[in-house]
Amino acid sequence: MRIDIITVLPELLESPFSASILKRAIEKELVEVHMHNIRDYTDKSYNQVDDYQFGGGAGMVLMIEPIDKCITALKAERAYDEIIYMTPDGETLNQRTANSISLLKNIIILCGHYKGVDQRVRDAFITREISIGDYVLSGGELGAAILCDAVIRLIPGVLNNETSALTDTFQDDLLAPPVYTRPSEYKGMKVPEVLLSGNFPKIEKWREDQALKRTEELRPDLLE
Ligand code: ADE
Repeated sequence: MRIDIITVLPELLESPFSASILKRAIEKELVEVHMHNIRDYTDKSYNQVDDYQFGGGAGMVLMIEPIDKCITALKAERAYDEIIYMTPDGETLNQRTANSISLLKNIIILCGHYKGVDQRVRDAFITREISIGDYVLSGGELGAAILCDAVIRLIPGVLNNETSALTDTFQDDLLAPPVYTRPSEYKGMKVPEVLLSGNFPKIEKWREDQALKRTEELRPDLLE
């Protein structure tokens, strides 16, 4: 999979890809992530990429021209399956969306900033708009990092034990069951007996029951 991220703040996106699972996924060449600074595509003085909104109102808007140039240059190199815009008024990201995006070959993620992008960018280029939740961030970069993390860990080979993504919370619309590790007893707090029993069908049944119980208690909406 190849991900091209278009942003005015590439430095904000450095650390998520420089550690742990995402770093290893890139090193193993299971994913390529390329940053594109919108400022590299403007001819204006002071590398201007934003301007006041027509009609008045607070906040700057990212201009269409440099974004058009960047997206057009990328599309000339390869076909893209989706051009995603990170925005609080997009569809809310969930595990199903992450699963479907993880199957794609090439995607572009455009990060908004300030008041967002000129609406004509959205009309002309964007195929999907994604929000990471009902709150407003200063820009789309942190949302893009979250989307990339949720997607990249699902690419086959990224996690050491592939079944561990399959048993994640939300993967089957259920929350994950509780997990325990050594010691089996700590300050009087014991690990459920069944997990120490070695009876795997019984353990599996216990985990299913716990997942259902947790979901009923904490997220009954998932069962609807
Ligand atoms: N940009 C600003 N707020 C955002 C959000 N909630 N999700 C995605 N991108 C955003």
